[in-house]
Amino acid sequence: MPDTDRLRQRLRAAEQEHLLRFVDELDPALRDALFAQLEAIDIEAIPSLVQRYVRAAPESAAPADIEPAPCHPRDPADPRMPWDAGACRRAGEALIRAGKIAAFTVAGGQGSRLGYDGPKGCYPGGAVTEKPLFQCLADWIIAARERYDAAIPWCVMTSPLNHKATLEFFEAHDYCGLPREDVIFFSQGVLPSFDMHTGKVLLAQKHEAATNPDGHGGSLLALHASGALRELATRGVEHISYTQIDNPLVRVIDPVFIGLHTYDAASSGEMSSKMVPKAHAGEKVGVFCAAGGRVMVVEYSDMPEELSRATNPDGALRFNAGSIAVHMIGRAFIERLNAGKGFALPYHRAEKKVACVDPESGRPVVPAAPNAVKLEAFVFDAIPLCERSVVLETSRIEEFAPIKNAEGADSPETSRRVQTQRAAAWLEACGVDVPRDADGEPDCTLEISPRTAMWAEDLRAEKTPRTIERGARTAL
Ligand code: UD1
Repeated sequence: MPDTDRLRQRLRAAEQEHLLRFVDELDPALRDALFAQLEAIDIEAIPSLVQRYVRAAPESAAPADIEPAPCHPRDPADPRMPWDAGACRRAGEALIRAGKIAAFTVAGGQGSRLGYDGPKGCYPGGAVTEKPLFQCLADWIIAARERYDAAIPWCVMTSPLNHKATLEFFEAHDYCGLPREDVIFFSQGVLPSFDMHTGKVLLAQKHEAATNPDGHGGSLLALHASGALRELATRGVEHISYTQIDNPLVRVIDPVFIGLHTYDAASSGEMSSKMVPKAHAGEKVGVFCAAGGRVMVVEYSDMPEELSRATNPDGALRFNAGSIAVHMIGRAFIERLNAGKGFALPYHRAEKKVACVDPESGRPVVPAAPNAVKLEAFVFDAIPLCERSVVLETSRIEEFAPIKNAEGADSPETSRRVQTQRAAAWLEACGVDVPRDADGEPDCTLEISPRTAMWAEDLRAEKTPRTIERGARTAL
């Protein structure tokens, strides 16, 4: 039996008693659901969240003294920062073979910009095969397992909004070809969504407080709270390869990057990142910066415009290191963060439209303008908590073809184009004729599965067609 009086007292102390406004109208099952939901929320934390983020509306988070972050260049012989890619590859491969590496994909987002109704991982990502994004990533893991004869567990973070649908997808798709016991699912946490004017938690329905997933930064808490981190420890995993679900070209397991993260003297083995040079000043990617000797990502929305546009004497963008949201994270680092009492990353505030019920009348409200503040933590805010953190430059065409928007930048169309560009370059390096149009763009659609080739050098001339027809759609 829930202790209603105690719950009411706690809510009153947090100025959120309205959440029980309709409780007497609810049938017992819905009333119990509401109590269970409210008991799971950190009610005592609400007043400070409201004070800090809803009433105060904090401005740009970029520190005043930021510099561009040092980055390991793509060419390891670059005299600006030479590094030993061969030694990194060997170190990374040894860790993979020894079963010390797990893959981790954050897939709890709502995909609202894409306008796709379902877990984003189910969205067709392959340029030709149209295989789901989950399968694009799984194929990389399968290829790495075979190449290194290693168990590579795959953690998939969902949110309460898509957990069930995600499990159903994997069940229906034979776990994307992976052993069922090697795919570990857990859901991220949620935070209450607030009325942006009053600071009251919105009621999604009379029996339900409005909540939103707590951002991919919530993964560092959820890995621990769900028991997934303990499970990885039991399996001997020491480092986690973090990727987003939206990028079908992502190198889910990259031995050179793993080696750089664990072996290079510049890294503390806590959290490392990959970047690509920004396509243009206004590209919507976070930027690697440094301040007070610490590496950090400043999100595109927080980057002062004049810094985004600033150039070096050679005309290149000064803050050029765009985050592709690929990280290596040490298990010990996540354990250390969670050992601190009440560990939380800072929250970022977004004003959104959230359908709700009027807390007085109980009538449904469908807002025409933003009415709510949603809070989210960003995983890259853990980077400044590292002792030392390295950033590795990579090539956009090799590794970054995200699908975020229905059209325009970062859309299925641009992703297909980048997947094709990469495949064309690999095939041409292998002596294959690829048709190109007047602008030099491949005049065909191409896709190479990681199970065929993880890198260009894996493509074998004898296993590829000699010529690609103009307009062809070819998957290898
Ligand atoms: C993100 C990064 C940006 C980076 C870009 C590269 C943020 C805030 N920004 O932008 O710095 O340059 O990717 O592609 O992340 N997700 C969850 N739970 C959540 C929210 C998101 O799992 O609560 C997952 C999504 O499923 C997705 C990923 O996080 O896999 C990215 O989220 P999104 O909010 O779309 O970030 P972007 O604006 O694309």
